[in-house]
Amino acid sequence: MAKLLYVEASPRKQRSASIEVARAFLAAYRAAHPADTIETVDVWNLDLPAFDGHALDAKYAALNGVERTPEQQAIWARISELARPLREADKLVFSLPMWNFGIPYRLKHYIDVVSQKDLLFTFDEKGLNGLLGGKKALAIYARGAEFGADSQTPAAGWDLQAGYMDLWFRFTGITDVSAVYLEKTLYGPDADRAAREAACAEAVALARTF
Ligand SMILES: Cc1cc2nc3c(=O)[nH]c(=O)nc-3n(C[C@H](O)[C@H](O)[C@H](O)COP(=O)(O)O)c2cc1C
Repeated sequence: MAKLLYVEASPRKQRSASIEVARAFLAAYRAAHPADTIETVDVWNLDLPAFDGHALDAKYAALNGVERTPEQQAIWARISELARPLREADKLVFSLPMWNFGIPYRLKHYIDVVSQKDLLFTFDEKGLNGLLGGKKALAIYARGAEFGADSQTPAAGWDLQAGYMDLWFRFTGITDVSAVYLEKTLYGPDADRAAREAACAEAVALARTF
C-alpha cells in the first residue's frame, strides 16, 4: 500500500484548470490503486507560519549548534509537522498555475517553510543530499500563454514555473519526475477547454502506471 500526497496550489477551486486535471488524475489513480492512501494539502487552506526572523533564529540555532529556546522549539515542531507528509509519502503530486512566470506565492511560502536541513535535505562539505530520494513525483502545470520555442515566451528564459519545481525536486533528491502541461488557457474558451481535455486524458493515462 503506497501513500500519495497531493499538493494543491490554485485558489480558484471549481474554476481551476490545474485542479480539474489533478482531480481527473486522482480519480483514475484511485481506480487503479484502490489500496493506496491519498492525502491532500491545499496550500491556500494551510496554517503556514511566517518564515520570519523568529523562524530563522530557530533554523540558525540548530545550524550553529545552539540549543533552541522553548519558543524556537515550538516553531520548529510546527515546521517539522508541515514537512512530515512530504517525508512520509511515496508519491507526490503537485498541481499549480503559473503566476508571473513562476509559482504562486503561497506555494513558495509552503516550500520555504518545509525545505529545511535534516527534514528534506542535508548538506556537508561534499555538497547537498536530498532526503526525498526514491519518491515519484508528478507536476501538473497550468499556464495562460504558450511556451513553445517559436512563441513570444519560449520556455527557455520564461518558464520559471516548471524550472523552479524541477530544481526543487532535484534539490530534495527526487529524480523520478513526470509532468503534464496545460497551455493557452487564456486564449479563449475553446483553447481552454481543449487544453483541459488533452491534459486530463494524459493525466488519466499516467495514473494507471504512476
Ligand atoms: C496572478 C496571476 C498571474 C499569472 N501569470 C501568468 C504568467 O506569467 N504566464 C502565463 O502564461 N499565465 C499566467 N497567468 C494565467 C494562469 O497561469 C492560467 O490562467 C492558468 O490556467 C491558471 O490555472 P488555475 O486555473 O489552475 O488557477 C496568471 C494568472 C494569475 C491569476
